[in-house]
Amino acid sequence: MTLDLTVKIGNLLLKNPVMPASGCFGYGEEYAAFYDLSCLGAIVVTGTTAEPRPGNPPARLVETPGGMLNAIGLQNPGVEAACEKIRRLQPYKTPVIVNVAGNTVEEYLQVIKVLEREETVAAYEINISCPNVKAGGMAFGTEPGTAAKLVAALRPATSKTLIVKLSPNVTDIVAVAKAVETAGADAVSLINTLLGMAIDVEQRRPVLANLTGGLSGPAVKPVALRMVWQVSAAVNIPVIGMGGISNAEDAVSFLLAGASAVAIGAANFRNPTVCPEVIAGIKDYLLRHGFQSVREITGLARTEEEKRRRAK
Ligand SMILES: Cc1cc2nc3c(=O)[nH]c(=O)nc-3n(C[C@H](O)[C@H](O)[C@H](O)COP(=O)(O)O)c2cc1C
Repeated sequence: MTLDLTVKIGNLLLKNPVMPASGCFGYGEEYAAFYDLSCLGAIVVTGTTAEPRPGNPPARLVETPGGMLNAIGLQNPGVEAACEKIRRLQPYKTPVIVNVAGNTVEEYLQVIKVLEREETVAAYEINISCPNVKAGGMAFGTEPGTAAKLVAALRPATSKTLIVKLSPNVTDIVAVAKAVETAGADAVSLINTLLGMAIDVEQRRPVLANLTGGLSGPAVKPVALRMVWQVSAAVNIPVIGMGGISNAEDAVSFLLAGASAVAIGAANFRNPTVCPEVIAGIKDYLLRHGFQSVREITGLARTEEEKRRRAK
């Protein structure tokens, strides 16, 4: 039986629904030593700003039970230098999605303007959810009106697929998702990290120099799954689900909850071949359950649950 793993995100046709999450894969260079990156559905590169950023001072990482806190703070070489690294991904013939960040609407626009010249760039993931920077970042993503204004300002700047990456650090993520959909987003991705902190009790001070950081890894999966379930029920654009995925079963649960595709972040640090393993595991799941296309399982847990409730 031929298995169809393709999914559509905006005007992108991905060969399968699996991609690395931004900031956890650099520009792919290190991972290319482990496997052929052309097997990925897409390559999502690190958060990119107009100017180079050194990120926050150390300590920037803390291990936590079932996860990690990071306060990297969007360290990146700036958009001009990023273009060179992105061009090196061209031979993989896999869509490259650039995570775009900025302090102001103008900075986001400036980054997109430079990236528009790059043929290798297939789509933008607008980061309105970084919890580790003083200005911009999450400030754009916690209020629906502010998020919508940013997306409306960026939409005319490109005909490429515009994905908006949502923050879980809100009371109502559905309201933000709906607002960015109305403003012209082609897809949403969620979740970014959950704001957290760690204290060194011997030193009696916060471990991270930034005081707070973003929590990711298996510990956040139930929160992410709940948000994907709620958002995908409320919007008509595709959802890219992420947060704590470390194996195929995790990935399938996000697809069943309503995600059209999934991204894998922190798990790449523990297991550099996690992405191809998850692709193989999704195939195996579809074959075992007699599905012909991965699209058949998007939101299936939700639609079956609705049927069960109606039948009662
Ligand atoms: C070290 C690190 C750096 C990250 N950098 C970015 C980034 O530049 N842009 C972004 O949108 N998300 C960034 N994230 C968030 C991830 O892309 C992802 O949304 C989050 O970690 C949840 O997925 P996970 O539990 O699979 O890691 C980063 C996460 C980590 C752990």
